[in-house]
Amino acid sequence: MLRLDNRCAIVTGGAQGIGAAIAETFAKQGAKVAILDLNVEKAKETAAAIKEKYGVDTYGIAMNVANVESIETAMNAANEAMGGIDILVNNAGILNSTPIADMKEDEWDRVIDINLKGTFFCIQKAESYLKASKYGRIINMASMAGRMGAHASGMAYVGSKAGIIGLTKGVARRFAADQVTCNCICPGIIATDMIKQWSPEEMQAQEDRIPIKRLGTAFDVAYGCIYLASDEGGYMTGQGLDINGGIYIG
Ligand SMILES: NC(=O)c1ccc[n+]([C@@H]2O[C@H](COP(=O)([O-])OP(=O)(O)OC[C@H]3O[C@@H](n4cnc5c(N)ncnc54)[C@H](O)[C@@H]3O)[C@@H](O)[C@H]2O)c1
Repeated sequence: MLRLDNRCAIVTGGAQGIGAAIAETFAKQGAKVAILDLNVEKAKETAAAIKEKYGVDTYGIAMNVANVESIETAMNAANEAMGGIDILVNNAGILNSTPIADMKEDEWDRVIDINLKGTFFCIQKAESYLKASKYGRIINMASMAGRMGAHASGMAYVGSKAGIIGLTKGVARRFAADQVTCNCICPGIIATDMIKQWSPEEMQAQEDRIPIKRLGTAFDVAYGCIYLASDEGGYMTGQGLDINGGIYIG
C-alpha cells in the first residue's frame, strides 16, 4: 500500500525543510527523486544523503522558480535524468510578513513570482511529461494562510497561497481526463527555517492556537503527500488537504 516504486518524482524547493522531508519520504517509498532548488549545493547534498539512506536514484538540479526559462531547463534535465516525470511537488516558496501599510511593489512581485507564478509554470513545463507517464500526480504547497488569512503572514503570501488553491482546482479540472490529478496541501505552522522570521512572542501565540499542542513537523506534511502521490490516491483531485494540528476546530 502507498508504495511509489520506480515512480519519478520532482520536489521543488526540496533542499531543506518540508521539501526535503517529502523527497526523503518518497525515496523511502521507492521513488526516484529530483530536487530542484535555487540552492543547488544544498539540493545536491540533500539528494546524496537520501540516496545513501534509501538506495534510490536522486538528483539535485539548479532551478530558480521565479524564472520561466530556468524552470524549463530544470524540468527537461530532471526528465532526462529520471527517464520521465510521474509526480510533481510544487513546494518552493518564501514567506513575507510585512504589514499592509509597509508593503512595497518589489516585495509583492517577488513573493507572487516565486510562490504563485512559479507553481503555474512548473505545471506548464511538466505537463507533457506528466501526461505521457499515464500516471500524473501534481501536489501544490498552499497554506492555511490561503484558507483563513493567517495571523502573522503578509498579504502577498496570503494572496499567493489562496491563488494556489484556485489554481489547483483549475488544473485538476483540465487534466482529469488525462488521469493527471492535482491537489494541494494546506499546512498550518510547521517548524522549519521559514518561520524563524517571527518573534518568540509571535511563535508562542501561534502555538497557543493549535489544539494538538505542538508545531507541525516537515514529516507531518510529507506523510500527507504520500497518499496524494500514490496509485491509491488516483481518485482524489482538485482538493486541499489541511495538515494543521486541528487549528480550524480550535
Ligand atoms: N513552514 C511553515 O509553517 C509552512 C506553512 C504552510 C506552508 N508552507 C509552505 O511550504 C513550502 C516549504 O516551506 P519550508 O517551511 O520548508 O521553507 P524553507 O524556507 O525551509 O524551504 C524553502 C525551500 O525553497 C527554496 N527556494 C526559495 N526560493 C526559491 C526559488 N526562487 N527557486 C527555487 N527554490 C527556491 C529554498 O532554497 C528552500 O530550499 C513553502 O511553499 C511554504 O510556503 C510552510
